[in-house]
Amino acid sequence: MFTTALAQQKNTQLGELPLDLFAAIQSLKKELNAVILAHYYQEPDIQDIADFIGDSLQLAKAAEKTNADVIVFAGVHFMAETAKILNPDKLVLLPDLDAGCSLADSCPADEFAAFKAAHPNHLVVSYINCSADIKAMSDIICTSSNAVKIVQQIPKEQPIIFAPDRNLGRYVMEQTGRDLVLWQGSCVVHETFSEKKIVQLKIAHPEAEAIAHPECESSVLRHASFIGSTAALLKYCQSSPTKEFIVATEPGIIHQMQKLAPDKHFIPAPPMNNCACNECPFMRLNTLEKLYWAMKNRTPEITMSEDIRLAALRPMQRMLEMSV
Ligand code: 13P
Ligand code: SF4
Repeated sequence: MFTTALAQQKNTQLGELPLDLFAAIQSLKKELNAVILAHYYQEPDIQDIADFIGDSLQLAKAAEKTNADVIVFAGVHFMAETAKILNPDKLVLLPDLDAGCSLADSCPADEFAAFKAAHPNHLVVSYINCSADIKAMSDIICTSSNAVKIVQQIPKEQPIIFAPDRNLGRYVMEQTGRDLVLWQGSCVVHETFSEKKIVQLKIAHPEAEAIAHPECESSVLRHASFIGSTAALLKYCQSSPTKEFIVATEPGIIHQMQKLAPDKHFIPAPPMNNCACNECPFMRLNTLEKLYWAMKNRTPEITMSEDIRLAALRPMQRMLEMSV
């Protein structure tokens, strides 16, 4: 009751929603010279109206290249911040400013500064899923699609701090044979998958392949025949001759999997509890309605101090140079 009243009040303040939201968003896009960038974990309607859909690395590259005046980021806060770091003169909009990330939140700047000080002479490689403050304290940024490649390019004798995801960090250690000092952060979505239920699904679907994102725990990764970023998972299930997949990542990706491989069957890996907690509660805060209001009102806007932006830009540029 309270929520409905509040929603109505919010809508009255903002005006009436147009009947055809898709058409209204397309016309605002022209008016603003805007580009809509969406992550694979966004709801299907947002993916369908986006100009570009991608994983974190592809989205950062798209943000770097765009000629648009306005970037509407259908993703979470750290992704929109990344777009702003690369485009200080563009207006960057995030449909819901509360669309954060448990992984980014697991690494507060003051605690990380102390951790870094306790490990002098270490190079800091940070996963892009972190705040601009953490990026500003890092030497190189990586994403799930280039983390292994980036760590492999660092001289063997150089000690490394890897932050903030301990699961991706552990996976990179296994793949590279390097000993990394890990910040103990994690993603609330990728830690929710049940190993027991995945094993039960594999027994019930003996022809199915399990595929997983490296943010998952090692108990889940060991059942996967392919591990990769969202874009890599999408590519893999298109090229593999297998017809059925158990997908251990946020199920928003299944919309594209189904579109690009319509003859195949995708089963979302189940969470431990009987909940929808395999859906990212932050990504799902964005809706088509909020996207429309963000473009109509040119807010909420991503801002940051120029000092932090410049300090965060340097490790971002190193990543882009090292992952061509
Ligand atoms: P990628 O986009 O690199 O696959 O990462 C997934 C994720 O958790 C984004 O928040
Ligand atoms: Fe963050 Fe996990 Fe959501 Fe990705 S899926 S945005 S890492 S909470």
